[in-house]
Amino acid sequence: MDLINTIKERRSVRNFSEKNISEDILNHLLESVRWSPSWANTQCWEIIIIKDSTIRENLKNVISPKNPATKSIISAPLLFAVCGKKNSAGFYKDIAVTQLGDWMMFDLGIAVQSLCLAAHSLGLGTVIVGSFDHAAAGKILQVPSGYETIVLVPAGYPEKIPSPPKRREIIEFVHHDVF
Ligand SMILES: Cc1cc2nc3c(=O)[nH]c(=O)nc-3n(C[C@H](O)[C@H](O)[C@H](O)COP(=O)(O)O)c2cc1C
Repeated sequence: MDLINTIKERRSVRNFSEKNISEDILNHLLESVRWSPSWANTQCWEIIIIKDSTIRENLKNVISPKNPATKSIISAPLLFAVCGKKNSAGFYKDIAVTQLGDWMMFDLGIAVQSLCLAAHSLGLGTVIVGSFDHAAAGKILQVPSGYETIVLVPAGYPEKIPSPPKRREIIEFVHHDVF
């Protein structure tokens, strides 16, 4: 699959078959995170692979009400929690380099997109889950202070691939010379 089609055809998948994911494929997914770019190569990501059914149930209970991805926290063969180290990306000697402060969210966004695209290219589906009680999830996952739980990513072989939600036309977001 060429990259542009991988980007265009990746969908948020919330229904998975029971087929398990091999260690080899899991390793490819983790390599895609590993080779993602980051601020000054900070690599501020930490990935938790969650297999324990009680932990999954506890996480499901802190997902925001009516979140369409709730069921997938339990049903997906693979569940990642993507955590980030605070105050490292965008900092030099503990001082923010730019007015934007912490670049952790930016770096994790890239790493998670790498993960989702790699998964899609290998025939897997993923959904990025950002709407949940982050403090409660951090407690459940025993995330240490100085780190934040940012997203959960259920992954597996898709049972159903949703149709693509509408995108803005290029002309609607491209500006020439000035905003
Ligand atoms: C940062 C972020 C957080 C998201 N959080 C959720 C979520 O909590 N629940 C969910 O069902 N989908 C979530 N999504 C998936 C988006 O709804 C989805 O990417 C968007 O509707 C476009 O659809 P597509 O991914 O199929 O192209 C999230 C996506 C991103 C990038």
